[in-house]
Amino acid sequence: MRILVTGGAGFIGSHTADRLITLGHDVVVLDALTPPVHRGGRPDYLSAGIDFYQGDVRNRDLMTNLLRRVDAVYHFAAYQDYLPEFSKFSDVNIVSTALLYEIIVAEGLDLARVVVASSQSAMGEGLYWCPADAEQTPGIRPESALAAGQWDIICPVCSGPLELRTTPERISNPQNPYGMSKFGQEMVAINLGRRYGIPTVALRYSIVQGPRQSVYNAYSGACRIFCLSYLLGVPPTLYEDGGAIRDYVNIDDVVDANVVALTDARAAGRVFNVGGGQAVTTREFAEIVRQQYDSDLEAVVTGEYRFGDTRHIVSDIRALGDLGWKPQHTPADSVAAYARWLAGIDSLDGVLAEANARMRALGVVRQSAVLPEAGR
Ligand SMILES: NC(=O)c1ccc[n+]([C@@H]2O[C@H](COP(=O)([O-])OP(=O)(O)OC[C@H]3O[C@@H](n4cnc5c(N)ncnc54)[C@H](O)[C@@H]3O)[C@@H](O)[C@H]2O)c1
Repeated sequence: MRILVTGGAGFIGSHTADRLITLGHDVVVLDALTPPVHRGGRPDYLSAGIDFYQGDVRNRDLMTNLLRRVDAVYHFAAYQDYLPEFSKFSDVNIVSTALLYEIIVAEGLDLARVVVASSQSAMGEGLYWCPADAEQTPGIRPESALAAGQWDIICPVCSGPLELRTTPERISNPQNPYGMSKFGQEMVAINLGRRYGIPTVALRYSIVQGPRQSVYNAYSGACRIFCLSYLLGVPPTLYEDGGAIRDYVNIDDVVDANVVALTDARAAGRVFNVGGGQAVTTREFAEIVRQQYDSDLEAVVTGEYRFGDTRHIVSDIRALGDLGWKPQHTPADSVAAYARWLAGIDSLDGVLAEANARMRALGVVRQSAVLPEAGR
């Protein structure tokens, strides 16, 4: 097949493009090479065999021309950040998806598959269990609680403690602008796909980790921040109390899931979680990175937190598991691969400090009443 990969110069897109080429497909990439993800032109890691176009996914003419020439699409191009640019999240992530379907319908294109990159953030705080009040899907944590350093979520009905559950795809409860835009994108894709008979799959990735994850984008997450910290010899900061739980997923496992979404007829019309299958606290994750760098520096709690973050979220991955997919890699595998890749990157000076200063200045990273932990 000839396959269009939007955002194919980015982290997930480029790895997916590599696999598609290995599988014998022709790959066309459309990518705007947006900062801060990209700092120079076409990235070196992008395979020479790719038919590359620099441009915006919201450009109707460009998209029409490319869509006419392909059999399937992966829509990965997206705006991802913690910044309060609410309209930009909707514009890039939702409008581009609506445009994609508008063109497919207007041109009467017969595509074998459209795969859109949704996100675990579409599920917000996810699923909890209250012994007294049964299943709960909590809303946004009050800012007053976060400012006071009260991180854990309590039952919205009885205010008692909640037990974390893995979150299945039936839960949609996005709480930050990015998550809302990803849920919007997913709804547009799945519902227009069903209505117009365009076989569509939406994949809700958990936090994806591995080489090529932009070092310049503050949104790139724990693997980037902790690896950069250890590489630069500063103790990494743990937001909240370091107890936030996630299920980090390895890029190779994500690419496997992307292939299933393209090829398995049972996937069409459905939303799937793509998670790591293992619950890990931020502190545990930092420890994995510390061991990778063989450092004596331990991560520290500074009393800071990230505005809009969810406390815990672990995806239920049984639905995609039923199609034969299974994560094969651990967070330690992802960290080792990322650290190897990072070691080959020049000009990392200031990257961490710049991103942190920007996040603090914009009120994305905030200080709670919790006092900083002494470094050890
Ligand atoms: N990386 C993760 O942990 C993660 C988790 C959940 C969901 N996702 C989703 O997966 C997809 C890929 O994420 P990634 O981590 O590879 O991100 P990335 O930033 O590495 O890649 C995204 C690419 O899209 C391009 N792009 C951005 N805006 C564009 C536009 N308007 N037109 C054309 N190109 C544009 C960027 O230049 C970049 O190369 C995104 O849709 C993202 O929302 C990622």
